[in-house]
Amino acid sequence: MSNIRGRFQKAAGEDATKYTASIPFDWRLYPYDIAGSIVHADMLAKQGIITRKDAKTIIAGLESIKKDIDAGKFDFKIELEDIHMNVEARLIEKVGEVGRKLHTARSRNDQVALDMRLFAGVSLLSTRKALQDLQTALVDLAEANKKVVLPGYTHLQPAQPVLLAHHLLAYFEMLQRDLERFTDCFKHTMVLPLGSGALAGVSYAIDRDYVAEQLGFGEISRNSIDAVSDRDFILEYESAASICMMHLSRLAEELVIWSSPAFGFIEIDDAYATGSSIMPQKKNPDVAELSRGKTGRVYGNLMGMLTTMKALPLAYDRDMQEDKEGFFDTVDTLLSTLEVFTGMVSTVHVNAENMRRALDKGYILATDVADYLVKKGETFRSAHGIVGKLVSFAVAKDKTLAELSLAEYKKFSPLFAKDVLNITVESSLASRNVPGGTAPAQVRKALARAKRMLTDK
Ligand code: ARG
Repeated sequence: MSNIRGRFQKAAGEDATKYTASIPFDWRLYPYDIAGSIVHADMLAKQGIITRKDAKTIIAGLESIKKDIDAGKFDFKIELEDIHMNVEARLIEKVGEVGRKLHTARSRNDQVALDMRLFAGVSLLSTRKALQDLQTALVDLAEANKKVVLPGYTHLQPAQPVLLAHHLLAYFEMLQRDLERFTDCFKHTMVLPLGSGALAGVSYAIDRDYVAEQLGFGEISRNSIDAVSDRDFILEYESAASICMMHLSRLAEELVIWSSPAFGFIEIDDAYATGSSIMPQKKNPDVAELSRGKTGRVYGNLMGMLTTMKALPLAYDRDMQEDKEGFFDTVDTLLSTLEVFTGMVSTVHVNAENMRRALDKGYILATDVADYLVKKGETFRSAHGIVGKLVSFAVAKDKTLAELSLAEYKKFSPLFAKDVLNITVESSLASRNVPGGTAPAQVRKALARAKRMLTDK
């Protein structure tokens, strides 16, 4: 029977023990739980709440438990419910009665909040690093293919020519916003809950600022009831992760489309593709597809947690133990997705000729022809109508716009002159010379800015 059942006449039922235990999944909080306990014991001694000698014994015991768990030599017990009690019970076994002093001026409610915040803080740092690695891979790919042009699409129909680098930098921007969201989440996460006790604060002269400083927290919580019942930092991580996975799923989808033989814009490296068990010719983009699929579970974890927290009365409720599995899963899924994307993007083969060939189809310079008429004095709406008719004429003749003669152009507007034949993919790109546009001069600046952002992060 665990040592918190003083008031009970009998042990918990085996079914209830199994049902309520979190040790099968919260064991992975052990480095944070032990780090928090070490600082707590140290602070208790500093404040004269326990002796320095006792604190030393407790800290040595905790350090040896950490080593045992690291080495896989720890017997987690389900009847001890969670990581907190598993560690504490083992401490008492190891160091004797003095181990019973560790939980002075603390409750599992502020302890679990502390552990989860420490875990989230470390995960946030890894997430930021993984995001920046993927941003670097995108910038490198853009840099290596600075001159490559492909059709930009709307409705998945060829729209206007764009530089591949410009297209890739669109993802850089999305990831930059993700990075900012995670940075914001870090700020909200690194608030120390310890010292809130069960919910009302504790009756010992503890030093919360000292604990915060030792554990790397930027500030201490201002309300004990909120501190033990707040899981916003988890919801924030899960929200930011959902948005980030949505971005990655869009990139995944483009990699799937671009690598299909119908497009042939890229080839995914063998290391990130799989074969078919029946069709020998196939090279499937499974990594990209799975990342698209995993976006669903990350959204699911967010919905699950929002629903768990909905309408919970203050302060701590056991429902909140449900925060863990979904959160761990989201962190693991996002980190592994970011990592595998960095590898996949770094090794992708770009087929510039196929992108170029795709520009010849789809009347991709039609907007440029309309803009040409506007610059000769036509209104944009009329120019749009004229070029629409011109395109339909070219379609009927099975010609591209470049293959039409000046005489054919002139049938549609007297404003067409010889220089209409100078409209090319290059002139189209160069003309979109506005900040944020695809003109090579603008993209050069955008690339330089992106590289600067990555180096002074
Ligand atoms: N295993 C619990 C959780 O994950 C720890 C806190 C338990 N507190 C309590 N009063 N039962 O939320």
